[in-house]
Order: sequence, then C-alpha cells, then structure tokens
Amino acid sequence: MIEQNTHLFSPGIIGPFKTINRFVSQPMEGNDSDHGAVSADVLERYRQLAAGRWGIIIVEALTVDAAALARKDQLVINSNNVPGLTKLIDAIKAIAPDTLVIFQITHSGRKSGKAFSRPTALYAPTPDEHLLTTDEIQEIQDKFVEAARLSELAGADGIDFKMCHGYLGGEILRPANIRDDRWGGSFENRTRFFREGFARIRENQQRADFILGSRISYYEGIRGGCGTVAADDVVEDLSEMDEVIRIMAHMKLDYLNVTAGIPGVTSEIGRPTATSRWLYLQQFRYARRAKSLAQDMKIFGSAYTVLLEESIKAAEENLARGDADFVGWGRQSLADPHFPAKIDQGLAVDYCKLCSGCSKHMVRQEKVRCIFRT
Ligand SMILES: Cc1cc2nc3c(=O)[nH]c(=O)nc-3n(C[C@H](O)[C@H](O)[C@H](O)COP(=O)(O)O)c2cc1C
Repeated sequence: MIEQNTHLFSPGIIGPFKTINRFVSQPMEGNDSDHGAVSADVLERYRQLAAGRWGIIIVEALTVDAAALARKDQLVINSNNVPGLTKLIDAIKAIAPDTLVIFQITHSGRKSGKAFSRPTALYAPTPDEHLLTTDEIQEIQDKFVEAARLSELAGADGIDFKMCHGYLGGEILRPANIRDDRWGGSFENRTRFFREGFARIRENQQRADFILGSRISYYEGIRGGCGTVAADDVVEDLSEMDEVIRIMAHMKLDYLNVTAGIPGVTSEIGRPTATSRWLYLQQFRYARRAKSLAQDMKIFGSAYTVLLEESIKAAEENLARGDADFVGWGRQSLADPHFPAKIDQGLAVDYCKLCSGCSKHMVRQEKVRCIFRT
C-alpha cells in the first residue's frame, strides 16, 4: 500500500459494517438489462467491479416501476427480478465477500423516456406528460418500500433512496414543486415522501444489518430547484437542503451521498469535464457542508473523476480533514473497474479520458461503456 493513502485504505464504519477501505463505486447506469432483469452483461460489469476491491459498490439506479424507465434497458426491481438480483449479489460476493453492495432505488418521473415509458410530472406537466395524482404518488412510495424489502431478500447490504439528479425523488423536494396536495407546497409536504418512505422501510426491515442511505443534489442549478429557497429563484441558497440533511441525520440514516446538478440540464455541475474542471470544488464544498450537519450519518463525496491522478491525493486530503467519510468515483469506475486495487498495488491505472463517451451512450439509449475499454 502507498504509505500516504492511509485514510483511503483504512476501514470505514457504516451502520453495523466495517468496510475494507473508503472507495465507493458510484451508481452508473449500464442500460444493458434483459427487459429489466439482470443479464449476462450486467453480471460481467459487476464482476469486474468486484475484482477492483472497492469498499462499497452502489448498484446503478433500479427502477421501482417498470413504467418509469429513464433508459430502455434499465434494471427493474420487482418480485420477478429478485432471482436475478440475488445472482448479482452472489456474483459480486463470490469475488469480493467484504465489499458492501447497496442497491439504488428510483422512480424516473418526468425523466422517463416517452418512446418506451410513461413520463410522469409532479407539477406543471407538458402535453406529453401525465400529472401524477395524490394516490399515484402514494403508490410510488409503496413501491419504494417494497423495493427495499426485495433488496433485503436479494441479499443486498442496503439501499440508496434516490433523491438526486432531477428524478422523482429530487423533483418532490424542490421549492418549484407547488402541488397543492400532501406532496407539494410546504417544506413539510415536500419532505414527506422520503420521511414517511424511510419510516415505512424501517418498519418493514427484517435484518438489523441493512444500510439505509440516500443521494441528493445539494444544488440542482435550475429555477426553483433543490438548493434554492423559492419556486422562482435560481441563486444557490442551501438553507432548505441543510434542513433536509438535518432531518436525515435525525432519522439516523446510515449515509448520505452528496452530489449536484441534473444530467442533461445542468450536467457539468454534477459531472465536471475538462472544460468545467473547477466545478469539482463546488462538490467538495457541498460534502464539507453536509459533513458539518450530518452527526453520525456518513457522508460520501462525489465527482472525483475529473481530477484523474490527482483524485487520490484530493480524496486522501478530504478524508483526513474530515470533509467526507467515503469518496466516490463514477466515470473512473467505468474507465478502470480495478482502480482501488491498482492504486493499492501501485499498478498503472487506466484513467478516464473525460470524453463523455459513456454519457453519450446513455443519451443515445445504447449500452453504457467506456469507449476506451475493450
Ligand atoms: C453513464 C453514467 C451513468 C450514471 N448513472 C447513475 C445512476 O444510476 N445513479 C446515480 O445516482 N448517478 C448516476 N450517474 C452519476 C455518477 O454516479 C456520478 O455522480 C457522476 O458521474 C460524477 O462523478 P464522476 O465525476 O466521478 O464521474 C451516472 C453518470 C454517468 C456518466
């Protein structure tokens, strides 16, 4: 092990678990399922990650509703797919028994693709979107609760309740959600979906050793988005999102994965590129701020890929300062799934080329791959 990376390679504590290190493989949609079920391609992608010695692997966005697909071949979590999801966990654990595996559960809302799914708006629908009713939102919450139970059944170590990147969970939270029912308007109503959702998941939970976490976009960068305080304001004001974090900490969630932006809208805020490199500093600031509010809840930082070789030093520094508890790489995990193992052994890493090839695959509804990896 390289001497100076003592924090990165030290065990981390999350819920009842001890991780082998602080590396997080961020959720990365592959768009390569077999009609929503785990395919041979999915298994192979995660076997590769398992061989990489990540402390935590967050499995990509699994939709709780087959009619809410952002990607045409997105993975679906339902009772039919539990055998495949169990196989996925078994495949990872056979190679990496000490790596924690968390399922990200989501509903794509208005980001569902209209060619193969049903775009559902929470507020201000366009003509091709269906405005969700009060009952339908309740049913979606039921599906999140069910998805958490199925994740437990499949043998996952926990769930990530997705509230980021403009998908339904994030849309509900933002001040622009001006619905006049129990899901919109007041801060209390806009936080109801996750507050009640987590409480119900906990009630249903069978295993004590099951991690509950979430991912938020601290600042979405849109009018009335998360990280603003009024439906008609666009300037960053994090006070409301701070309160969201305080609530999550009070509810004793095990972790919060801090990110920003909305892909396809304010993409670079979430996923800095070579020409927008400095936006990583915003993400470091968000993680530090979340950490100051998090109490015992662990904070995962995002957006390290753009720093390439320097990302290790930055991650080590942020861990040492206490600005994050775990650090996550997204695109880098596609460019080289063996990244942590290679750093540990001092081997040459295939660094991300920051070409956005993976994102282009995703936008074109193709299988998501690193175009430089054969
Ligand atoms: C192809 C692709 C797929 C992604 N899929 C997900 C996903 O399923 N869930 C999620 O929360 N974020 C997803 N993201 C965002 C990443 O997890 C990560 O936050 C982002 O790439 C920034 O981190 P990085 O700079 O290390 O790549 C995706 C990003 C890309 C490029």
